[in-house]
Formats: sequence, C-alpha cells, structure tokens
Amino acid sequence: MRRVLKGSIAMHDGGGSVPPFSDVMAVLRRRTAAVHTRLENALELLSPDLSVSRYRDVLMRMYGFYEALEPRLDDMLTGAGSPLPDWPSRRKVPLLRHDLRLLGVDEAALAALPRPRVPAVDGVAAAMGVLYVFEGATLGGRFIVRHVVTTAVPPGATAFFGSYGDEVGRRWSQVRHAIRAATAGEAARVEACTGVAAALFGALEAEFAR
Ligand code: HEM
Repeated sequence: MRRVLKGSIAMHDGGGSVPPFSDVMAVLRRRTAAVHTRLENALELLSPDLSVSRYRDVLMRMYGFYEALEPRLDDMLTGAGSPLPDWPSRRKVPLLRHDLRLLGVDEAALAALPRPRVPAVDGVAAAMGVLYVFEGATLGGRFIVRHVVTTAVPPGATAFFGSYGDEVGRRWSQVRHAIRAATAGEAARVEACTGVAAALFGALEAEFAR
C-alpha cells in the first residue's frame, strides 16, 4: 500500500512567490515518506503468505523500540503542561506484551531481546518526533489488522496494530495538534522533531533489513 503525498511546502500566487510555508506535519511527511514506504515493504505484513512466526518476529522487534523510547516519552509528556495530556493512555508496550503473550513469547524471552539503537530524545520537540512515528503506526495498523485476522495468527493478538479501534482518526488529530503546538512553527524545534522522526524511521528500517 502506498501513501499519496499531499500538500506542498511552498505556495505560489500568480504575482510571485510567497514565503515558504513550513507546517511541521507537512515537513514530517515529506521527510519520512520514502523511508516509510521502504519500511512498509520490508515488514511484509500485508503478504498473503504472512506466517505466525513472521508476525511474532515483527512484534518482537517493534517491542524493542517502544520499550526503549516510551520511558523517554513518559519523561517529556507526563504531568502538568504536557502537550499531550492523554499520553499515558497511549503507551503501546502493554499492548505489545499482550499480543506477544498470546503468540507464546514469555517474560524471559522478552527480557533477552537485543536492545536496538534508538535516537536520543533530549527535549519535547524531539519527543514529538518519536510520537509522530509511533502514533502514525496506528494509521497503517488499521489495514494490517484487517489482513492479519484473515491469517493463522491467533484471534486477539492484534491489540498493538489495532490500537484505538474506531478512535484512530480522532486520536491522530490530537497528535497533530500536539506536535504543532509543541514545535510552534519555530525552525529549531521543527528540525529537532523531524530529525528524530527521520532517525527513528531509519533505525526501524535498519532493524527490518536484517
Ligand atoms: C505494513 C505496514 C504499514 C502500512 C500498510 C502502513 C500504511 C499507512 C497508511 C495507509 C497511512 C496513511 C493513513 C491515512 O492517511 O489515513 C500511514 C501513515 C503513517 N504511517 Fe504507516 N503503515 C505501515 C507501517 C508503519 C509503521 C511500522 C510505522 C512506524 C513505526 C508507520 C508510521 C506511519 C506514520 C508516521 C504515518 C503518518 C504519515 C502522515 O500523514 O504524516 N507506518 N501508514
């Protein structure tokens, strides 16, 4: 499945150019569209031959990233003044653990997983870059669940990709709002946010290329 790139970061009128428009969401999408497509293809989750062991392997590798980075989001997004007050209800580690348990992965196996290298998260803008990648996965997740339930994967082992159910759209618009508010159109913050998002997509791509 391919995403269609929408929008433009530069607008022009008939009488000459106007200043560049740099909405952080447009920059995020533009900067990560190609690596998203490569990652999507590398995951092979929409393959008609998707096996239980491949699905389990993908979730185990994803787990490493969420387990490493969600505590950083806790640091940046919990408490008064958080740009995303409902952050605690968005953690995906419990959902991944739930699915992996149903897939026969026990605590000892989870604890023994290699830890991936992840980008440094040194501020709220950087945290927003991680949030973009992690929450964006819920968008594609709708398509993934629709396919996974047609395979031999045990029923119910789709809590992670099925996060939010019918609420995906509403919860994604809150994320967009929070990212815009936290970066406030400031070039340095937009760079911190989009740089971390691109680095995280790059780390995921490297993980799944192995
Ligand atoms: C087979 C795997 C995947 C498929 C089929 C897929 C598909 C999609 C689709 C169709 C959208 C657009 C949804 C919409 O506009 O309503 C989307 C958006 C997005 N996906 Fe994925 N995705 C996959 C995996 C992932 C993964 C693993 C991540 C990150 C860990 C991810 C991150 C994102 C992000 C950040 C967006 C938002 C893009 C934007 O509008 O700025 N996706 N994906």
